[in-house]
Amino acid sequence: MGKNSNLELDEIGCWSEVKLDILRDYAPAYTTIMSRQSFIKGYYYIDGFAGYGIHKSKTRNEFIHGSPSIALQVVPAFTGYHFVDLNSKKVEYLKASTATYPNARVYEGDCNKVLMEQIFPIVRYEQFKRALCLLDPYGLDLSWEVIFTSGQSKSIEIFLNFPIMDMNRNILLKNSDKVFPAQANRMTFFWGDESWKEVAYRKQKGLFDILEEKTSNQVMAVAFQKRLKEIAGFGYVPEPMPMRNTRGAIVYYLFFATPNKTGNKIVENIMRKYRNRRAV
Ligand SMILES: C[S@@+](CC[C@H](N)C(=O)[O-])C[C@H]1O[C@@H](n2cnc3c(N)ncnc32)[C@H](O)[C@@H]1O
Repeated sequence: MGKNSNLELDEIGCWSEVKLDILRDYAPAYTTIMSRQSFIKGYYYIDGFAGYGIHKSKTRNEFIHGSPSIALQVVPAFTGYHFVDLNSKKVEYLKASTATYPNARVYEGDCNKVLMEQIFPIVRYEQFKRALCLLDPYGLDLSWEVIFTSGQSKSIEIFLNFPIMDMNRNILLKNSDKVFPAQANRMTFFWGDESWKEVAYRKQKGLFDILEEKTSNQVMAVAFQKRLKEIAGFGYVPEPMPMRNTRGAIVYYLFFATPNKTGNKIVENIMRKYRNRRAV
C-alpha cells in the first residue's frame, strides 16, 4: 500500500493482530476451495469497515497490514474486492493504493447502506456468486439487517466483531435504569431487537422486590451465537473467539458464521491454533 507517513493510523493491539492473522490463514483456503468449483461464477472479498489498509503496532515500532491489504495479497486471488469506509481520508488512501487492481472497488459511505444497496445484491446464490465478508466496526456501528441479510443469502460468510467492551461500557451497566435510551438503541440496532435485555439481566425474586443481576460476557456471546444460527439462518457458527487486551479483559469476540460445512471446519481449526496465544 502507498505512502503512510502523514496518515493518522490506528495503533492496534495484539487482539486486532490475531483477527488479521485469522483472516490471513482463512482467506487463501477460501479462495482455493472456490477456485476449484467450476460452477462458481465469482467469489468476492467484502470489507464493510475497511480502514486505511495499514496500521501501526501498539507494542512494536512496525507497520502492520490491515484487512484490505491482506485480502489483496491472497493467492489464489479473489474475483473481486469491495471495500467500504465512512471516512473520506481512508477512502481516498484506499482508492490510491488499490488503483492498480482493476477488480477492486472502494465505496465511501455507511456500510449499513452500501452493503445492503450496492454490494450484497451482486452476490446472489442463484447466480453462483459467493463472498467472504469482514464486518469489523470499532463498536456497535453495524446493523442487524446486514448480519441477517448475510445469513439469509446462503452465499455470504462473515467474520464479525462482537464489540463486548462497547456494550459493557455503555449499555450493560450493573443498574439497567442508568442506561441512556440512545445507548440502548445502539444495542438494539446491532442485536436486531430488544431481546438482549432479557439476556443481559437475570431477574430474581427478592424479599420485597424483583432483583436484577447482570449476566456475563459469555452469556451474551452464546445468545448471539444462537441468533446467528436460528434467526439469521447461518448453517454453522463455531464458538467465537474472545480477543483480550494485555490486562486480560475481553475487548470483543470474533465470530465466524457460514453456510459452509468445510469453511466451518477450517475456521474452527484456525481459531483453536490462536485461542491459547497469550496477549503480550
Ligand atoms: C476497526 S477499523 C477497521 C479495521 C480494518 N478492518 C482492519 O482490520 O484493517 C473500523 C473502520 O470502520 C470505519 N467506519 C466506522 N463506521 C463506519 C460505517 N458505518 N460504515 C463504514 N465504515 C465505518 C472507520 O472509519 C474505521 O476505518
